[in-house]
Amino acid sequence: MSQSTSKLAIEGGTPAVRSPLPPMYPGGLRIGQEEEEAVLEVLRSKRLFRYYGPTPGPSKVAQLEKEFAACMGASYAVAVTSGSAALICALVGLGIGPGDEVIVPAYTWIASASAVVAVGGVPVIAECDESLTIDPADIERRITPRTKAIIPVHMRGAPCEMDAVMAVARKHGLKVLEDTAQADGASYHGKRLGSIGDAGAFSFQFNKIITCGEGGMVITNDREVWKRTVMYHDVIGGARNGIPEEEILPGVNFRMTELQGAVMLAQLRKLDGLLADMRRNKAMLKATIEEVAARKGIVFRKEHDPAGDAAICLIFYLPDAARANMVAEALQAEGVGAWVLYDPEHSDYHIYRYWTPIMQQRTWHPKGGPWRWHESRVHYAPDLCPRTLDLLGRAVHIDISPDLTNENIEEMAEGLNKVLSAEW
Ligand SMILES: Cc1ncc(COP(=O)(O)O)c(C=O)c1O
Repeated sequence: MSQSTSKLAIEGGTPAVRSPLPPMYPGGLRIGQEEEEAVLEVLRSKRLFRYYGPTPGPSKVAQLEKEFAACMGASYAVAVTSGSAALICALVGLGIGPGDEVIVPAYTWIASASAVVAVGGVPVIAECDESLTIDPADIERRITPRTKAIIPVHMRGAPCEMDAVMAVARKHGLKVLEDTAQADGASYHGKRLGSIGDAGAFSFQFNKIITCGEGGMVITNDREVWKRTVMYHDVIGGARNGIPEEEILPGVNFRMTELQGAVMLAQLRKLDGLLADMRRNKAMLKATIEEVAARKGIVFRKEHDPAGDAAICLIFYLPDAARANMVAEALQAEGVGAWVLYDPEHSDYHIYRYWTPIMQQRTWHPKGGPWRWHESRVHYAPDLCPRTLDLLGRAVHIDISPDLTNENIEEMAEGLNKVLSAEW
């Protein structure tokens, strides 16, 4: 690689980014007085459990569910212990179980597929398009008589092509569970993600947009789905929520604690501010590299609704993997913190080919498991989704923290312009 302007840091020049960039914990870094006070209030009341304690009082988790449903434009919300729990409870809520195939994208955290296995279903893996979200045309190709649901994942903050996903789902009578773990508060054509399909699942794990360390939420507009979800997430959720005795099904326990609820209430109230800051920062950074990107044939990640993007990252494609790696390395040397989304040498549980326990169809019990009971043999192989691997291998990713300063952005822009203008 040789430079066209100032000397590249990778070749001994001065790195463009001189002040350290904030780490990518959007809500986590904004934990402050509001969270402290909310947690202290719960601790002082000694009422750590949603349903009772030594002092009476309203439940933080109940309040969170109310405010979360209102914020997302959904009729119901059920708070749970994690995003994985949210996916599992929502799948049970949607009536997905043994023998059912569920279509998941090739690029998502393994939890989207593991949740299907956890309820006894079989994950079927589909290609992503240039948005790095599930390709609706490929969903249709992977449908069989056993397909019951689709999990579109709003990966890295960006909405899936929900109109097309919903059209395929409705045509084939499939349920849609939106995995919104990485896109809290983002939207598609004016609707918050998670509220478009039959249910939405959210994660509040520490590197998500809003967080309480670990936590999750299911939302839905369907009362029957809510009833089943609420019964499953709490061993006596049916009785607690006024569901008639004759309808009650056995549940487990994925209930959120009051401490998590307290933190999440404070975090939820910061969500729109976080989104506004990330969107501003991304727009500023993107604008500064548009000219060089166009000149050098660099293509930005396709956006199905740019206005709805949570803007947690900036992704662009180089013509091939070799050049993407070269550019990412040079950007790292500049201090920009870029990486390529797929490196065949390094395992990454966000990419289907590294989901080893799933790819090898391993089960917990020697007598069975979803794949062994399945009517048809399911085939997984590393080359199942070549298009997704090609896209990820050419995709350079940069985190967009809400806490970037103007100085940070200027320096990142300088590094990007330096590297992208060079010959590679
Ligand atoms: C796309 C996606 N789905 C599901 C999950 C699972 O969430 P959790 O870690 O809270 O169980 C994650 C978490 O990283 C995720 O990124």
